[in-house]
Amino acid sequence: MASLGASPHAALMDEVYRGQRHIYDFTRKYYLFGRDTLIAGLAAGPGARVLEVACGTGRNLAKIAGAWPGARLYGIDISAEMLKSARAALRGEASLAQGDACSFMPQALLGEPAFERVVLSYSLSMIPDWERALDQAAACLAPGGSLHVVDFASLDGLPSPFRRLLRAWLARFHVEPREDLPHVAAKVAAARGLILASRRGPLGYYQLHVLKSPEPRP
Ligand SMILES: C[S@@+](CC[C@H](N)C(=O)[O-])C[C@H]1O[C@@H](n2cnc3c(N)ncnc32)[C@H](O)[C@@H]1O
Repeated sequence: MASLGASPHAALMDEVYRGQRHIYDFTRKYYLFGRDTLIAGLAAGPGARVLEVACGTGRNLAKIAGAWPGARLYGIDISAEMLKSARAALRGEASLAQGDACSFMPQALLGEPAFERVVLSYSLSMIPDWERALDQAAACLAPGGSLHVVDFASLDGLPSPFRRLLRAWLARFHVEPREDLPHVAAKVAAARGLILASRRGPLGYYQLHVLKSPEPRP
């Protein structure tokens, strides 16, 4: 199998984050809104396996460890650079591996076939084949599990000059808000028998989706 280091997208992500990873957690708290709302809604009890796909610096996994003690944490990211930060931040609290959100095999990478909670946070907006990544994340759910997604929405409540500026700023980092995400989430939910609940943050800044698998019958 070709190594991820050889993939152009992995190389691009390393290039974006090689320097940025050192200031990522401090700077992103001012514009990646909704992540803590997602974490508060996880309801991950002790022993629950929680996977963050595209975990970046491990910021969310560290917060999940604090909010949901006893949850078992897993993370994958395509960027070896980001994983250096995640390993340093989490110090063995999570199993981490390099993997592509569009094609990873959880059992081979993390030793688990499925997870009670799967998280995608501000990553679909950076993944070219994001529809596939969403479906792949849904495929990792254990029975009764749920997939939690937060990402930029249309930003349509912002004054237009500010919206244009923000979009241009995001594009510099290869970030593109996925305005079609509600529609695609509904398609994935219908195809996989999941129940979808969605909401938007103030000013259409972020969108939050939860795709829940039905509880197994006793
Ligand atoms: C904006 S950061 C979000 C990090 C973290 N989830 C958060 O909420 O802070 C986007 C992350 O997606 C990762 N990424 C981009 N494309 C990916 C892919 N195809 N597979 C796995 N990770 C990917 C990047 O390396 C980066 O760490």
